[in-house]
Amino acid sequence: MLGNFTYCNPTKLYFGKDALQGLNEELPKYGKNVMLSYGGGSIKKNGIYERIIEILKFNGKTVVEDPGVMPNPTVAKLYEGCRTVKENGIDLILAVGGGSVCDYAKAVSASAYCTEDPWEKYYLNGGKLENKTVPVGCVLTMVGTGSEMNTTAVLTNTETNWKIGHVFEEEIFPKFSILNPEFTYTLPRHQMVAGFFDVMSHILEQYFCGEDDNTSDYIMEGLLKSLIHSVAIAVKEPYNYEARSNIMWTATWALNKLVEKGKSTDWQTHMIGQAIGAYTNATHGMTLSAVTIPYLRYILPYGLAKFKRYAINVWNVTPNGKSDKEISNEGLCAMETWMKHLGLVMNLTDLGVTEDMLKRIADATLIMEGGYKILTRDEVIKILNESM
Ligand code: NZQ
Ligand code: ZN
Repeated sequence: MLGNFTYCNPTKLYFGKDALQGLNEELPKYGKNVMLSYGGGSIKKNGIYERIIEILKFNGKTVVEDPGVMPNPTVAKLYEGCRTVKENGIDLILAVGGGSVCDYAKAVSASAYCTEDPWEKYYLNGGKLENKTVPVGCVLTMVGTGSEMNTTAVLTNTETNWKIGHVFEEEIFPKFSILNPEFTYTLPRHQMVAGFFDVMSHILEQYFCGEDDNTSDYIMEGLLKSLIHSVAIAVKEPYNYEARSNIMWTATWALNKLVEKGKSTDWQTHMIGQAIGAYTNATHGMTLSAVTIPYLRYILPYGLAKFKRYAINVWNVTPNGKSDKEISNEGLCAMETWMKHLGLVMNLTDLGVTEDMLKRIADATLIMEGGYKILTRDEVIKILNESM
């Protein structure tokens, strides 16, 4: 049965080759002072920076530069961003980059005028947003996280090795997001495929849970098929606009809160991945790819009917004459082959994880309760061991 829910997603999207022109429509809605947040410099190399500065100047904005948002943004960077916002009376945060920059901008939006320590309030204690916020707009340059159309912001505390995501209230949705698939063309291949796998993982976290007949599961199977189809083209032809644009759109729908509606969700792979990320600072999508197959194999017996459905509907496994378990395993084998073909990291050793780190990673893994199996700490360690 579809559970009760409310659904709201106010983010306005500008999609396509001319999407950046959307800035000319959006910028006049906000005050003069714009904080331009971006990462380590890719936007300067590929020309996106100059194009945005030109539009900001054309609209009479005062630009306050906020570079250096690192992949897996840190709490220290959050504090720096909050200071910049307050010192300059920022009216709009324009985040230009991938999920890290978008997440960071949303966290700053919620934290700049917070009277308590935002890490403690939101991330450690799950506190509610009570202060004024700063509007955020995003120009996306990396596909994967869905951050452009959701309220989540993931931060890492490098002093305590905690990487935690907080789902903020509706005020934190980006006011607008600019999605030009061509802006993702300059991504290095390993980042591109890590993002592709992040999209798949988001869908699976919301698919492998519940056993009801749920419209969301049909939507997710469609998204997965589109993703698999387009990824096969994109890895051969990275400049194929049709494939890259389909993947970008799939990524947004995979995590803009729609498909989770009315059903439980898992997110255990992400919790393990975040703990790995906190200890290794590895690329997010690769922390997921390294543990996904061992995790799914482990929970398979607890969600057999869904794994069978996944194998048949998504991986085109022919069921004739096979047991449910055989069909399900064949589906996971097809997925594993696909992952290897993409060049994803398939084990933790390649991410720099050593045996002595496993218990600490398990301790830093939040245990989720919405999937087919609520894991114990020992089971997390077992899955980590199998991922080495
Ligand atoms: O910093 P620059 O120089 O821009 O380089 C970035 C970065 O090194 C580079 N890059 C981005 N666009 C590029 C480009 N390089 C060349 N050309 C381009 N067009 O790619 C690197 C990775 O960027 P990053 O933003 O870190 O990647 P991603 O989009 O995967 O974001 C990862 C962060 O998002 C969080 C992750 O935990 C991680 O902290 N997540 C956020 C979620 C959400 N808000 O809902 C959900 C996700 O599950 C995830 O946890
Ligand atoms: Zn993810």
